[in-house]
Amino acid sequence: MNSKTLTSISLGTPKRILRLDASASPGDSSSRKLGSYLLRQLEQGAPAIETRVRDLNTGLSFIDSNWIAANFTASDERDVKQSARLAFSDELIAELNWAEHIILTTPMYNFGVPATLKTWIDLICRAGVTFRYGADGAEGLLKGKRIDIVITTGGAPLDSPVDFVSGYLKQVFKFIGIEDINIIGADQMNVDGEASFATAISQIEQTYPAIAA
Ligand SMILES: Cc1cc2nc3c(=O)[nH]c(=O)nc-3n(C[C@H](O)[C@H](O)[C@H](O)COP(=O)(O)O)c2cc1C
Repeated sequence: MNSKTLTSISLGTPKRILRLDASASPGDSSSRKLGSYLLRQLEQGAPAIETRVRDLNTGLSFIDSNWIAANFTASDERDVKQSARLAFSDELIAELNWAEHIILTTPMYNFGVPATLKTWIDLICRAGVTFRYGADGAEGLLKGKRIDIVITTGGAPLDSPVDFVSGYLKQVFKFIGIEDINIIGADQMNVDGEASFATAISQIEQTYPAIAA
């Protein structure tokens, strides 16, 4: 491979970003707004970006006994119905595999993650696909990726005893092999929303300084 080819690859290959949004509120959602800001900063700081977006409020359904049975059947022994039952989960996992960088935005709902996000987690945590069990216990299989997790709350402080969002999400993503985890928090939005939002914006700008035009 000559140097010209190398240059064209390094400048021409877009960074693959997957954006996942969990808030049930579409338009004026604070977590979604922060996710858009983060994405803009990334777009300005990188030569090229390819983005895929998935709204977790659309199209996800709970795992059930048929799904579990299909998942616990070896892939070469599944019947047509079982393969079909896992097809959407396969699609979600393919998206994760495709992405180099993930942006997840989520509010806190009742001290935890929204049910939509938990549903997505149940669909993407699959033994032999996103993690495996070996002699040393579980090993995550989605290596070399980064995730920014934007979390908003109304009254609960992040990292407090009533925050069952940030620690849980860190555990889930480490479990599937994503070790590079950055949490951006706009917590206690009902106490001083402007200040919380500004703190999160400044955290984003420090993490991803935009290149001045
Ligand atoms: C159903 C529901 C449950 C909530 N539960 C909590 C909670 O347990 N603790 C908290 O601090 N805020 C809670 N909130 C407030 C949201 O976390 C907060 O308003 C957040 O900024 C919403 O983000 P969004 O605008 O992106 O949807 C809840 C909001 C809703 C709608």
